Amino acid sequence: MGYDYGSDRVSSLPTGLRMWPSKRYAEMHLRSLQNPEGFWAEEARKLDWYKTWDHILDWKPPYARWFVGGRLNACHQCVDRHVKTWRRSKVAIYWEGEAGETRVLSYSTLFREVNRFASVLKQLGVRKGDRIALYLPMVPELPIFMLACARIGAIHTVIFSGFSAQAIADRVNDTQARIIITADGGYRRGNIVALKEITDEAAKLCPSVEKVIVIKRTGEPVPMAAGRDWWLSSLLDKSEMLVKPEAVESTHPLYVLYTSGTTGKPKGVVHGTGGYLVFNHSVYEWAFNIREESVYWCTADVGWVTGHSSIVYAPLSHGAAIVLYEGAPDYPTVDRWWDIIEKYGVTIFYTSPTAVRMFMRYGEEWPLKHDLSSLELLGSVGEPINPEAWQWYYKHIGGERCPIVDTWWQTETGGIMLSPAPGIEPILLKPGSVTFPLPGVDATVVDAEGNENPPGQRGFLIIRKPWPGMLLDIYGAPELYRESYWSRFPGSYYTGDFAMRDEDGYFWLLGRTDEVLKVAGHRIGTVELEDAVVSHPAVAEAAVASKPDAVKGESIVFFVTLKAGVSPSSSLKKEIVELPRRVIGAIATPDEVYFVQSLPKTRSGKIMRRVLKAVASGQSVGDLTTLEDEASVEDVKKAYQSLRKVSDTSKGN
Ligand code: PRX
Repeated sequence: MGYDYGSDRVSSLPTGLRMWPSKRYAEMHLRSLQNPEGFWAEEARKLDWYKTWDHILDWKPPYARWFVGGRLNACHQCVDRHVKTWRRSKVAIYWEGEAGETRVLSYSTLFREVNRFASVLKQLGVRKGDRIALYLPMVPELPIFMLACARIGAIHTVIFSGFSAQAIADRVNDTQARIIITADGGYRRGNIVALKEITDEAAKLCPSVEKVIVIKRTGEPVPMAAGRDWWLSSLLDKSEMLVKPEAVESTHPLYVLYTSGTTGKPKGVVHGTGGYLVFNHSVYEWAFNIREESVYWCTADVGWVTGHSSIVYAPLSHGAAIVLYEGAPDYPTVDRWWDIIEKYGVTIFYTSPTAVRMFMRYGEEWPLKHDLSSLELLGSVGEPINPEAWQWYYKHIGGERCPIVDTWWQTETGGIMLSPAPGIEPILLKPGSVTFPLPGVDATVVDAEGNENPPGQRGFLIIRKPWPGMLLDIYGAPELYRESYWSRFPGSYYTGDFAMRDEDGYFWLLGRTDEVLKVAGHRIGTVELEDAVVSHPAVAEAAVASKPDAVKGESIVFFVTLKAGVSPSSSLKKEIVELPRRVIGAIATPDEVYFVQSLPKTRSGKIMRRVLKAVASGQSVGDLTTLEDEASVEDVKKAYQSLRKVSDTSKGN
C-alpha cells in the first residue's frame, strides 16, 4: 500500500527526534478546525441523503445537533447503497462459528435478510422510536437485527451476551424496551451459554417487555412462554421480502448503548443517525484506509461500542467485508485467530492490547504457523498499549510491514478521535502513543484549572469543539449528561482520561481520572462493583481498587469490612467474589478480596481509592493528610500484607 513505515525507524524509537505529522494531515486538521461546518458538509456528501440538511450544526452547549433537517437511513447506507452497485455480489459478512462452521453473506443476501427481519419487527407492531433490546451471541443475526431496527427507525440497545439477568433488566427497564431478541443459547469454549434462560430471568423483572424473539442457534430445548415468545423462524415464514427504509431525521436516535461511569447505574449513551454515520464513515477512511475490497476484522463483541462502529456501521458503510467470529480467541487451540486471518485473507485487523498481551504469552510460534501476509494494517483499542506489546504485535503479527493504528475513543465519542491516519498520509509512529487527533477533533491536555499544559506534563484530555459522532444525550438523564461531560471544564467535553503531549506534539493516554476501571479493556464502574458486594448481608462496607495486571491491564481488588459479629472466612470470600459476577457478569469477577477493619476515607467520608490502589499495587501511599483516620491506612496495608502471604502460601509459592 506504499506505507512509509520503515521498521528501522519504528523500532529504534526516536528520543528527541522532532517530527510533526504529515503536511497533508496538518493542513486537513487545521482546515477542519477553522471551518468545521464546511469541512463536515464535505464529508457528509459522501453519504446518501433522502433530504440534505438545512444547516450543518446546531450547537447549544452542551447539545450539538448535526445536519439538522437532513433525512437518511443507516440501513440504507450500509446495505441498500451497495446492492445498487457491483458490490451486490461481493462478501459483506464472513461468519465463523466456534466449532468451525462458516456462513458467507453477500451484500444482496444481507439486503434480503435485513428486509425480512425488518418485516418481522413490523409484524410484531414495532414502530419508529421503539426500543428493542438485543441479547445475542456473535451470530450474523445480531448485525442483521441491528440494521433491521435502523431500517424502520427503531432504536436498538445491544446487551453484551456475557451480562447477567440483572444487568439485562437494568438496561431494558431504563429504555423501556418492548421486545428482547435472544437465542436458545450461544457457544463459549465448547459449552452452551443459556441465553434464553437468562433472558427469562431478566424478563420477570421487566414489565415493558411484550415479546421475546428467539433465534435457534444450539437447538437445545428451551422454555417458550405462550403468547410472549416467538421463534424467529416462524415469524420469518410470514415476512415480506421488502420493507421500505424509514427516512429518519439526522438527529433521530440510532441506538442506546450502556456504559459504566462514576455512578452505580450504567449510563445509556444515545447516538444519533446522521452525525454518527458521517463521523464513522470518515474516521474509518482516515484511520484504517478502509475500502470496499478490505477484509476487516474487529475482534470486539458487538455488545460494545467498538462492535457497533467497527463491526457494523463503519465497515459496512464502506462496502467492506467484515469477519464475525463467534467464539473464544484461543479455542480450541491458541492459534484460532491467526487461522481465521489466514482463512479469510484479513487485510485490517483490530483488537485490544489485552488480547495482544495474552497471545504474546502463548508465544510467536503460534502466529508463525500461519500465512498472515494478507494483513496491511493493524489496530489497537480500549486501553493503552505498552511498547513491549506494540513491538510484538508489529513484528509477529504485522511482519514488520503493517502500521499499528492505536485508536483512542469512547462509547460516548461514537468513533475514533485520536489515532494515526494512514488513510490521509503515513507518519512516524511511536509505540504507545495514539499520535494526533483526527481531523475535526479539537483535543488538548489541560491542568485542573483548564489551562493548556506544556509538553511533558500530565493533565486532563478534553475536546474543545463538538464533533459529529458525539453522543446526543444520556438516555433519560440529561442532568447526568451535563454533569458528567460538560461541567468539569465548561464549554469543553471532559473525557475522564489523563493524557500528555510530548515535545513533538504526540498524545499519550495515561489512564482514567475517575472511578472507572479498565479490566481487559472492559469499562467497569467501581460503584457498580461496590453496590454488588454491599448487597451481601455480612458486608458493612466495600471498596474497590485496581492493581496492574500483566495481561488484563488492571485487575479488581476488593477491600471489605464486615458487620459486627461476622468473622472472615474463605466461604464468605467465595460468596463475595460471586456477587459482581451475578449482578454484572463474569467480566466483573474480583481477582482478590481482602477483609479489613476499616477503610481509608477523607474527612468528608469519601473512600480514598488512591490509597487502596497504592496498597493493592505495593506502592507508596503518598500524602495522606486528608485522611479521616490515618490508622486505617496501616490497617489496610497490614491486612493486605498478611492476606497476601496466606494466599501466596496456598498457591504453593
Ligand atoms: O480510558 C480510555 C480507554 O477506554 C475508555 C473508553 O472506554 P469505552 O467507552 O469502553 O470504549 C472503548 C473502545 C472505544 C477511554 O476513556 N481507551 C480507549 N482507547 C484507548 C484507551 N486508552 C488508551 N489508549 C487507547 N487507544
